[in-house]
Amino acid sequence: MDCMVNNSSVPDLTGKRALVTGGSRGIGADVVRRLLDAGASVLTTSRTPVDDLPDGAHYLRADVATAEGTEQLARETLAHFGGLDILVNNAGAARAFPEGIGAIPDKDWQGALDSNYLPAVRLTSALLPSLIEAPDAAIVNISSGVTLGVSPPLAHYAAAKAALEAYSKALAAELAPKDVRVNVVIPGNVTTPGADLIRQTMADAYGFPVETIAQSIPLGRNGVPSDIAEAVLFLVSPRASWITGSQLVVDGGQQIAT
Ligand SMILES: NC(=O)c1ccc[n+]([C@@H]2O[C@H](COP(=O)([O-])OP(=O)(O)OC[C@H]3O[C@@H](n4cnc5c(N)ncnc54)[C@H](OP(=O)(O)O)[C@@H]3O)[C@@H](O)[C@H]2O)c1
Repeated sequence: MDCMVNNSSVPDLTGKRALVTGGSRGIGADVVRRLLDAGASVLTTSRTPVDDLPDGAHYLRADVATAEGTEQLARETLAHFGGLDILVNNAGAARAFPEGIGAIPDKDWQGALDSNYLPAVRLTSALLPSLIEAPDAAIVNISSGVTLGVSPPLAHYAAAKAALEAYSKALAAELAPKDVRVNVVIPGNVTTPGADLIRQTMADAYGFPVETIAQSIPLGRNGVPSDIAEAVLFLVSPRASWITGSQLVVDGGQQIAT
């Protein structure tokens, strides 16, 4: 069956109901803006409330790193929208241990899973009946380019994101017959409050200027949140109606750098 695709520069998401986790800053905030611009209704969340959310975004305070937090968020999302078409699991957090893998405490291995993997699993499970009911529903999970390379100081974070990627593929296979698409976006180094701090920590610990990270990227710069939000917008839109189970790397060519 042919899919209706309009030719304007922004896909039309009018009538779509979207939940974006971690939309208070960085990549998530730009995803929220893009979805609103495309006509979707958007609900977003973070642990720390902010007062400069884009006009039209609905905000709920929640900690998605706990089972109670995701349960509450799923319940309140359905109470607000009555259903859901788009889920973007963006919230995530990392702390670098420049001393290496042996210095990563047990609680941080668990914390990496709690912050970067389990929120997507729990939210998806809680919201699945609504997503299956919605026509052309889409899930996008935000991973990290750290799964494509090797970074001992972030081994716990990389392991959690790798779990997210494996889970997303299995979910995509199971949900394809139910018309729910599941894709992963893999960002490289993107300028955001959270990631800038990690890069600075690593640069300070190893004694290199932080600018060398951007200089080592084939396309010559760090990404900006809109580079990632553009990919998310595409993947949740009807323009990607034949794409599921994919991993879209958006990293300025970092994965092919020698
Ligand atoms: N920027 C990069 O270079 C980069 C590279 C690869 C992957 N990523 C991934 O991209 C995603 C967004 O990262 P970012 O760079 O935009 O990070 P950021 O600037 O730190 O923003 C993270 C957002 O998630 C929220 N958040 C974090 N933990 C949360 C929790 N437990 N419950 C609810 N909200 C939570 C934060 O708000 P609160 O802190 O107030 O809760 C904030 O809104 C993450 O999954 C990250 O792993 C980023």
